[in-house]
Amino acid sequence: MLCLVASEIRAAGALYDAIGLQYSAQRRTDPRIAAWIWQALGDAKTVLNIGAGTGSYEPPDREVTAVEPSPVMRAQRPQGAAPCVAARAEALPFADGCFDAAMAVLSDHHWQDPVAGLREMRRVAKRVVVFQWDNTRIGDFWLVREYLPEFLGAARARPTLAERAEAIGAAMAPVPIPWDCQDGFFHSHWRRPDAYLQPSVRRASSVWAAVGPEAERRAVRALSDDLVSGAWHERNGALLELDEAELGARLLTTVGPTMGAWDRARALEWLTEVDQNWQTRGYGSPGTNGRLESPAAWEWRPYATTCFTTDR
Ligand SMILES: C[S@@+](CC[C@H](N)C(=O)[O-])C[C@H]1O[C@@H](n2cnc3c(N)ncnc32)[C@H](O)[C@@H]1O
Repeated sequence: MLCLVASEIRAAGALYDAIGLQYSAQRRTDPRIAAWIWQALGDAKTVLNIGAGTGSYEPPDREVTAVEPSPVMRAQRPQGAAPCVAARAEALPFADGCFDAAMAVLSDHHWQDPVAGLREMRRVAKRVVVFQWDNTRIGDFWLVREYLPEFLGAARARPTLAERAEAIGAAMAPVPIPWDCQDGFFHSHWRRPDAYLQPSVRRASSVWAAVGPEAERRAVRALSDDLVSGAWHERNGALLELDEAELGARLLTTVGPTMGAWDRARALEWLTEVDQNWQTRGYGSPGTNGRLESPAAWEWRPYATTCFTTDR
């Protein structure tokens, strides 16, 4: 039994054992995204961070326990980082309800069974917070749409983010990505297209490993040509005017008590907070009415057609 558990943890960590050697050089906490995540943690004092990697986004003012299956990633956690357990999301070695909150940042798309992992988070914590991309929106990003269509199939093969939210009764809110995002994830350089020509930038994202070297070579060559000829700017130049963009990043938050019934009052409270945040940014109100029947129905319509049009 112990051997089986160890081999499942090894298998979960295998991808990042192979591609994660330089992870901490490019991937780090972006303070603006962190503010969204930490706000969603509410008043939680004890926090479990699953798929914790090198420790990005772990709140400094709470008692954090990390879960990370890859030894290569665990080895890059800085000195003084939260204690880290070698485990995987689908089988968390913790008792029911023993954390105030469980968080996962850009991790559950790697889990063998994301719904089982999310339900485990719900089991061990009173609140669940997940930062993730809406995989139905992945083709809206110019890099995928114009250069890397190979990635569409891989992204769509997973359960949709709305299905994952529905499985744990989570509310879903959009998180804008700043133009100078400090965390080098796949979408991070949406306004800095030259960055994708650098191998070190590409190595920080698993997307390139997923599409393989041939697609990568072709995409990089085409992008490089378009940047020289001006074709990229013709198609996407409007992006250079934006300070932040709605690219399909979402924050999933469960607002009800552990394993409890859907809590409409708390959901409304949280969505109203998000709504005000958006209005303050001059995006207009996405509105909260009619969004409380089913979390899967929650989408912020002004941005539904393309990630790059804003009505600012
Ligand atoms: C893109 S990294 C994100 C790391 C960190 N959360 C961050 O924001 O930098 C994805 C992480 O999920 C971990 N992971 C993969 N499968 C997992 C599983 N089944 N359970 C928990 N973590 C897993 C990987 O090892 C990797 O460290």
